Amino acid sequence: MSIEKKAFGILADGRKVSAYTLRNEAGAKVKIIDFGGALVQIKVPDREGNNADVICGYDQLDSYINGDGYQGALIGRFGNRIGGSKFTLDGKTYKVSVNDNGVNSLHGGICGFNAKIWNAEMVDGDEPRLILTLTSPDGEEGYPGKLDVKVTYTLTANNSVVIDYYAVCDKPTILNLTNHAYFNLGGYNSGKIFDHKLWLDADSYLPTDEKLIPTGEIRSVTGTPFDFTTEKTIGQDFDLTNTDLGLAGGFDHCFNFKGGETEEPVLRGILTDEKSGRQMKMYTNQPCVQFYSGNFLNNEKYPFKNNYPQGLQNALCLETQKMPDAINHDNFTDCVLRPGQEYKYTTIYEFGVI
Ligand code: GLA
Repeated sequence: MSIEKKAFGILADGRKVSAYTLRNEAGAKVKIIDFGGALVQIKVPDREGNNADVICGYDQLDSYINGDGYQGALIGRFGNRIGGSKFTLDGKTYKVSVNDNGVNSLHGGICGFNAKIWNAEMVDGDEPRLILTLTSPDGEEGYPGKLDVKVTYTLTANNSVVIDYYAVCDKPTILNLTNHAYFNLGGYNSGKIFDHKLWLDADSYLPTDEKLIPTGEIRSVTGTPFDFTTEKTIGQDFDLTNTDLGLAGGFDHCFNFKGGETEEPVLRGILTDEKSGRQMKMYTNQPCVQFYSGNFLNNEKYPFKNNYPQGLQNALCLETQKMPDAINHDNFTDCVLRPGQEYKYTTIYEFGVI
């Protein structure tokens, strides 16, 4: 119904950062900044019709620049980790930036897409859209090929936030784009997410080592705390004496959807907060989701909006993706993009009430 642009802050080098607010007839509101293409606010009603902001994040630009956690950001070139920060593609070995645990590469490297200013184009209408584009030069953060990326955020009439990802390259490369929004359906300032119920259409997950690099095993969820095929609360099996949960301090794992990648987005996850009545349905055509239960949310220097303190498991991410470190495991999903191919996928976060 409307889209509006406002100043959000200025980078040290003088570049201006803007915030874009999308509104629909139903009264929902979505805010995105062009720094990192970050989703900084989603205001949707509870069962009484009261809006709350269900996205964790900050009030000011400085925290988006210096605070950790990739709050709300678009992630690229490669979502999650690349073990040893290297990979071999078509016989050639590439080294990518090390920015995690002194050895691995996380979320695109030192200056990933989360730290870029994206070009923004506003499209007004019943379902307002923000089209974000950027070009990543050949060799950026060590990745081969020039990459042209387009991400479109749409707020639909039925309170869905649709994220369309698109990219093309000029040399063979690897790619894994996602969004790193932190959700708390009670509102960003309502504490732990242990009472949220989650259903995931995932029959296996990827165990990791202590630095969160997948071991290579694709393990069935059956009989483990990772079984969300029947809806349960996040707290129910949050048991850090379980080896995999203990290594990560909670859920921080790639869950693999039944049957893998699909042509069209299909329903793969449902998150429900019975207290507020808010529910979020997640549709995607990607093969996996990284379910991260906010196990590093403890940086006291960067409180959330309105000075609400960070806190472990105060929010969670559902990052649709291909498998982390896929290029280093022959049994993992394909993550190679070649010239002439189009990288294209859609994730929908649909908000409703129960
Ligand atoms: C991802 C990772 C986590 C963590 C966060 C950022 O979701 O899987 O381990 O690095 O990003 O804090």
